Amino acid sequence: MMEWLGLVAASTYAKDIDFVFDLILWITAFWFLLAEAVFFYLILRFRKKPGVPGQYITGELASEKRWITVPHFAVLLFDVVILFFAVKVWYEVKQNLPQAADQQLVRVIGQQWAWTFVHAGPDGKLDTPDDIIKVNELHVQVDKLHIFQLESKDVLHDFSVPVFRLKQDVIPGRVITGWFTPTKTGEYDIQCAEICGIGHALMPARIVIETSDQHAAWMAQNSTVAVASATAR
Ligand code: CUA
Repeated sequence: MMEWLGLVAASTYAKDIDFVFDLILWITAFWFLLAEAVFFYLILRFRKKPGVPGQYITGELASEKRWITVPHFAVLLFDVVILFFAVKVWYEVKQNLPQAADQQLVRVIGQQWAWTFVHAGPDGKLDTPDDIIKVNELHVQVDKLHIFQLESKDVLHDFSVPVFRLKQDVIPGRVITGWFTPTKTGEYDIQCAEICGIGHALMPARIVIETSDQHAAWMAQNSTVAVASATAR
């Protein structure tokens, strides 16, 4: 449904999250249509007819109570199905932190009202001279595991990458770790998804998902250490 609405699925877990969305949508649609069908059937079937007095129904008979208890338990059963898949996907995305030898590290800093992205650079380590710092511009490589560390300089923000179906609150005083693996190249939106003051709506950024060659070229161009050593030679 999300892709049908035009939102590309560009991470390994995007389709799993979309599945839960669809499950909730179709279960809700099923109950809505069924309830409306029964509702209109009863309205028409038992409409006012000349000579037929209205019936007073107390709803105390077992045969009458069944109209409540059966749908009640059916709804609960469907809820358990939703819960099962929701917990499974939540665990995969939020509770689990995959590891890979060639994983990329990036620090994401929210502040009123911009995003700062500290890319680890060629050495793969943060807080080293080859880090690449960009404002409102995150560069990642397709098919590579990325570990991000979210930090805030001031208030609550929310790091949202719709094409990844990723959304995570950013909390001052905490470092929140998470992950994603992009599956499609291209340039997409990042948006703050937590009201963070007057400029909240003006806190968008871009994510650029590059092939390994493009990403290597971007890194070579932007790493100050690489540039400095090249000029020194
Ligand atoms: Cu930052 Cu809203």
